[in-house]
Amino acid sequence: MESLIDFVNRLQRACTTLDDYGGGNNGLSSLWEALPSVAVVGGQSSGKSSVLESIVGRDFLPRGSGIVTRRPLVLQLHKTGNGTEEYAEFLHITNKRFFDFSLVRKEIQDETDRITGKNKQISSVPIHLSIYSPNVVNLTLIDLPGLTKVAVEGQPETIVEDIESMVRSYVSKPNCLILAISPANQDIATSDAIKLAKEVDPAGDRTFGVLTKLDLMDKGTDALDVIEGRSYRLQHPWVGIVNRSQADINKSVDMMVARSKEREYFETSPEYGHLAAKMGSEYLAKLLSKLLESIIRKRIPNILALITRSIEELERELNQLGRPVAIDAGAQLYTILGMCRAFEKIFKEHLDGGRPGGAR
Ligand code: GDP
Ligand code: NA
Ligand code: MG
Repeated sequence: MESLIDFVNRLQRACTTLDDYGGGNNGLSSLWEALPSVAVVGGQSSGKSSVLESIVGRDFLPRGSGIVTRRPLVLQLHKTGNGTEEYAEFLHITNKRFFDFSLVRKEIQDETDRITGKNKQISSVPIHLSIYSPNVVNLTLIDLPGLTKVAVEGQPETIVEDIESMVRSYVSKPNCLILAISPANQDIATSDAIKLAKEVDPAGDRTFGVLTKLDLMDKGTDALDVIEGRSYRLQHPWVGIVNRSQADINKSVDMMVARSKEREYFETSPEYGHLAAKMGSEYLAKLLSKLLESIIRKRIPNILALITRSIEELERELNQLGRPVAIDAGAQLYTILGMCRAFEKIFKEHLDGGRPGGAR
């Protein structure tokens, strides 16, 4: 059985597709708002891309200095059976499977430039990427541009505020889990991620503190005050991470090797050894997947109500267009209506016969 997270993924994609054509007057935009997601936020070079790649276990994101992520990347991970081949698919390219992840990186770059131009503008139009792999957990993550303090040459002055308001538009959604990335080699009091998370989630209910670069701390210092919640308290425990260093990246250290090196780092660490079972990117991925699934499960009645409302509104809209509809818009609405009905059926099944503890 397809996981609940996968259903919500498909629903999210359907909403986005419709938004491109529909103008959002049919209730699907409020449905999109209600769907749970996980957004990755942090300052530039805090380690956001590295954390995402560790969670996926693949090297596929554009890298470099400056603002590399200039459009939101909605990354949907689908766990497949052991031994199956990994591949990626973009929503904007139909029927093409990418088996070479360096081409995925190139396509993200090209597709970013296609909308933003080459002049380092940003755009809030998301890129949708799905990855199918035996090495992932079912999870949807949204990579966002890094928070920054100054515009560099060639960038419009407004870019600092533009990025912040884009990130804010995601993390202020009450259903958005916030993966707040802070580097351990900087004072937590100066963390852009925590500053924003504190504003939009003062109780810390939906914020996950992720501390990267533990290996880069000054000798003789450790991050226990942060990791054990004394510096900044969150409802969920902080997760420490050791990603690949720039030197590792230059040497193309394999992601699976990096994962096991990270595990070893924690298991043998004099400071963090006692927390080893709850540290690292693999643990973080499992934690998020479990939580996302339980949140979705709790929200099913609510999501169902919104789908039903969308169906009613779509039907009303179609009636106004008059049937049979020859024009494109009508055909699109029919397609979406069909999808909504299918989703309604699936969610009702989960609501009625939902097995406790998981959909798989
Ligand atoms: P982003 O701008 O937030 O996406 O940051 P990146 O993931 O691109 O990381 C910026 C730089 O920091 C890269 O050179 C990474 O190799 C390095 N980096 C990130 N996390 C760690 C870490 O945990 N340890 C070490 N040594 N380097 C890291
Ligand atoms: Na960067
Ligand atoms: Mg990045």
